[in-house]
Amino acid sequence: MDLFAHKDILHVEAEQTIKVTNPATNEILAYVRKTNAAELETIIKKAQIAQKQWAQTLAEERSDKLMRFYALILENKESLAEIMTKEQGKPLAESLGEILYAASFVKWFAAEARQVCGDIMESKTKAQKIMAIKQPIGVCAAITPWNFPSAMITRKIAPALASGCAILVKSASQTPLSAYALELLAKEAGIPKDVFVVVNGDSNVISDVLCRSEAIRKLSFTGSTKVGAQLYAKCARTIKKLSMELGGNAPFIVFDDANLEEAIEGIMASKFRNSGQTCVCANRIYAQSGIYAQLCEALKQKMQTLKVGNGLDKGTNQGPLINQAAVEKVKEHIADALQKGAKLLSGGREHSLGGTYFEPTLICDVRADMLVAREETFAPLAPIFRFESEEEAIEAANNTEFGLAAYFFTQDYKRQWRVAESLEYGMVGINTGLISNEVAPFGGIKHSGLGREGSKYGIDEYMEIKYLCLNLQ
Ligand code: SIN
Repeated sequence: MDLFAHKDILHVEAEQTIKVTNPATNEILAYVRKTNAAELETIIKKAQIAQKQWAQTLAEERSDKLMRFYALILENKESLAEIMTKEQGKPLAESLGEILYAASFVKWFAAEARQVCGDIMESKTKAQKIMAIKQPIGVCAAITPWNFPSAMITRKIAPALASGCAILVKSASQTPLSAYALELLAKEAGIPKDVFVVVNGDSNVISDVLCRSEAIRKLSFTGSTKVGAQLYAKCARTIKKLSMELGGNAPFIVFDDANLEEAIEGIMASKFRNSGQTCVCANRIYAQSGIYAQLCEALKQKMQTLKVGNGLDKGTNQGPLINQAAVEKVKEHIADALQKGAKLLSGGREHSLGGTYFEPTLICDVRADMLVAREETFAPLAPIFRFESEEEAIEAANNTEFGLAAYFFTQDYKRQWRVAESLEYGMVGINTGLISNEVAPFGGIKHSGLGREGSKYGIDEYMEIKYLCLNLQ
């Protein structure tokens, strides 16, 4: 697939464009046209017409088209991964992993399209038949982030398309090329062009139109809690259905009775995926006092194996951070912690490669009054806190407004259940640092969001339940 051959998407420099750059090299990759408010209104109108026809198709037809879309993603996985690494920075192997992850949602919801069922309830009188049917919600909108440029799109569009909705996607300005590539493949798979549309442009302009539009009946957003709250407020006037996958501040607890080697693998997988730029990555690592020193040393050793570099280079497993603001934030978190008494065990600075490369960093003796305890760092910083008792660990882990993902390692089976139930989070990894897949319900509680994506629950986010009362007398 040659995305760069599609001149209707990618432009040479012009006034109304977004510049897409490679964070590894600063090279300009493309100029993407901005959609303005009037154009977006037209796109919404066309989507309304197209959605009505799409909703009339048989679930089997929608499922077949999604399976064709899935096959095309797999056929083009190498070039999709290359586009992703170039615009986002993540290592090529991780990009390939994300393309497979993205494809898995399409396959999953292709099957789910055919599993949508209503209910018949026992009625109160003989004459009445009481039924509930499920219908597509209509035209939906998605606002997606730069950290997972493909998977966060398919996790939203696949259930929308499966249920008979149309969906407009505003992709992140840093990573629009992956979005356009998916749009092209969806068209090639036979998904009508006005049913799945990618738009780009000024975030405020686009989100204002989407949120205020009566025609858009649902908004799904992945991004920060701050922006999520703004969108929530903007959608209030039109009473839209909302799904929000927002910020996290994941605790990662290692008890004395954990298998240390496995816990270190779990921390590495969770903390350093996408160079620490995931909503679910370990943000606070709690080690019990009996294992604390050993864990710090073992993690330090393991972190020496990380290789920072351009994601296209062989062997790289830590790419650059997305922008300078990300570098400033991690520097601020490190400086604050060190100034308040934490100890630096490794890293701590911008990488000698320059740009937005940052050294994987380990600090210990971290305490609750430090910034890293309260805010999501979104960078390769592993802060270790010491704790004594299970109660203390649970209390510290829950002491945040966020509630997306939490992890803990223990070999005590009673503790596994007890701690899992006590953690106030939407997702809990027990003896694992990797929890994301299409089968599982992804989502958070508290300030981490609303609704669930993926899994058997994901399609309901794009459907309404209609109650029918049939009187037979
Ligand atoms: C995210 O960081 O927003 C999503 C991560 C995932 O799907 O695992």
